[in-house]
Amino acid sequence: MIYLDNAATSRPKPPEVLQAMNDFMNDVCANSGRSGHHLAIQASRVVYETRESIAHLFNISNPLQIIFTMNATESLNLALHGILKPGDHVITSSMEHNSVMRPLRFLESCGVELTVVKCSQDGFLDAHDIENFIKENTKMVAINHGSNVIGSLAPIREIGNITRKHGVLFLLDTAQTAGALPIDMNDMKIDLLAFTGHKSLCGPPGIGGLCIREDIKIKPLKQGGTGSRSEEEYQPELMPDVYESGTLNLVGIAGLGAGVRYIMNDGVENIRVREVKLTQRMIDGLREIPGVDVYGHPDANLRVGVISFNTENISPSKVGLILDEDYDIMCRVGLHCAPIAHKTIGTFPDGTVRFGLGTFTTQQEVNAAVDAVKELSRQSKNK
Ligand code: ALA
Repeated sequence: MIYLDNAATSRPKPPEVLQAMNDFMNDVCANSGRSGHHLAIQASRVVYETRESIAHLFNISNPLQIIFTMNATESLNLALHGILKPGDHVITSSMEHNSVMRPLRFLESCGVELTVVKCSQDGFLDAHDIENFIKENTKMVAINHGSNVIGSLAPIREIGNITRKHGVLFLLDTAQTAGALPIDMNDMKIDLLAFTGHKSLCGPPGIGGLCIREDIKIKPLKQGGTGSRSEEEYQPELMPDVYESGTLNLVGIAGLGAGVRYIMNDGVENIRVREVKLTQRMIDGLREIPGVDVYGHPDANLRVGVISFNTENISPSKVGLILDEDYDIMCRVGLHCAPIAHKTIGTFPDGTVRFGLGTFTTQQEVNAAVDAVKELSRQSKNK
């Protein structure tokens, strides 16, 4: 089996992640931040250690500025719905996933002004275009770091400088990049960083988070029990409780912490070097096949390990089926929940076949996938 659907969720998970989840369920399995007995304290320690690991990964000085959610979508919704009000202006790009686009279109219908900056056909955003659209009521720039369709990377340093200069908030969706390449929230002037645990951070599905720069106030999406200030009927304002009502996904947090420590041990820079090499091999191999169109920039240094392509005469869904049934290769086909990105690269409405590389993808697997596409493409011509 060759698993090339890591952009949807990564697999396999490191044994340390499975062990941490198993240990939590067996040895702890108590609630955090509630009771005072020693198992509850152990649970709180697991949660805090995961916050610390994430703080370390993204260079955040105060781990309490990291809040846990279910996934990047929930984090993005919290930041967008909790900050933007009718009359505010927000800027996004034409390479977004629906996790940004749908809340923004909803907010637009409630009176928020939305500008969608057009990216190039290979998925790149020009930071100057962002600056040109900033005006007096611009409250936020909300974009993804790496495209989940073609892996194109946004110029986040430039955007961070621009947003900071104009006093505009910078919300970054790192669903495809957290753990795949170095991210420094401070240095890159990111105000709000949404991440998911189950992709390159090697954690389980169902756990993600939002890192919030100190002093930024967001209206919580929910209110409820936090274990703190139990005498009050009003939501406490303290971090991170204000955004974390209800029992947390503790086993997910235990797994995420182990995943983050695993990638930091390996070294995010090393992971990035390996991924660029394999991505380049995949792009080059696919580009050499007659009748195969590979989308996006041919230089893997400008991308994460997400490669989209189409073959002449066979629909993306048929290619996905043949790869799965005849070659035991798993990928994702279609629009990848990002219709606007497919419109930008010219592949709407059929979409593409997408290979998503991961931390554990090998050169042999990349070669085998390229050979499979070569063979199925040749066979389709002979029919
Ligand atoms: N957002 C994920 C993907 O691109 C699920 O497949």
